[in-house]
Amino acid sequence: MLISIFFLTESNAYVGCFVDTWKRLLPHRYRLNGADYPDMENNRCLFYCRDQGYKFAGTEDGGECFCGDNPYQYGPKNVSDYYCKATCNGDSDQICGSYWKISVYETGLLPLIQRRFGYKLLLNNTILTAPANQVLTSSGKLECAQYCSLSMNCKGFVISKETGICSLYNSFEIMCEGVQHAEKFQVFMMK
Ligand SMILES: *[C@@H]1O[C@H](CO)[C@@H](O)[C@H](O)[C@H]1NC(C)=O
Ligand SMILES: *[C@@H]1O[C@H](CO)[C@@H](O)[C@H](O)[C@H]1NC(C)=O
Repeated sequence: MLISIFFLTESNAYVGCFVDTWKRLLPHRYRLNGADYPDMENNRCLFYCRDQGYKFAGTEDGGECFCGDNPYQYGPKNVSDYYCKATCNGDSDQICGSYWKISVYETGLLPLIQRRFGYKLLLNNTILTAPANQVLTSSGKLECAQYCSLSMNCKGFVISKETGICSLYNSFEIMCEGVQHAEKFQVFMMK
């Protein structure tokens, strides 16, 4: 599996004013109960897109917010800033694109590394009795496996399917210290 691992930089640089179309340069739209967020401005859009794990955020037509990873996916659609002139619904001092024009910013999430790693399920509904070398919270087994692959000595991990609590282990000998039945926990080893 090839995994991109993202980390947060301080960058939230303005990228430019782009022409948008129905195909959408940045495909993920920020909607709240089926409508655009009422008081949109650039930081709100940026923080939303960053939370969602996207590298770019863009505001359009004063009140729309879109997230995506590549504003150049349809070629260089950037135009002069002159064409982005709609003030933001949530802050009249800021520009939020224009009609079919989108003001694009970096969210600050940049790919750190890409590496190949694999992991496989060893034991279902089981925990290890030995103390973990490191305990983290994660969104699930994929993120937990990413942490394990980033950690120098990690050989395997136990994940709680309910809470995402991710316990990293640096050796397999700890298996000898015992295992315990525990619903919705799983033991994985890295390959
Ligand atoms: C579009 O972006 C490229 C790369 O940043 C830049 O060289 C070019 O001047 C931009 N075009 C316009 C019209 O702003
Ligand atoms: C693990 O056990 C649960 C039931 O406790 C079951 O639903 C699930 O399919 C099992 N997963 C695997 C990969 O065996």
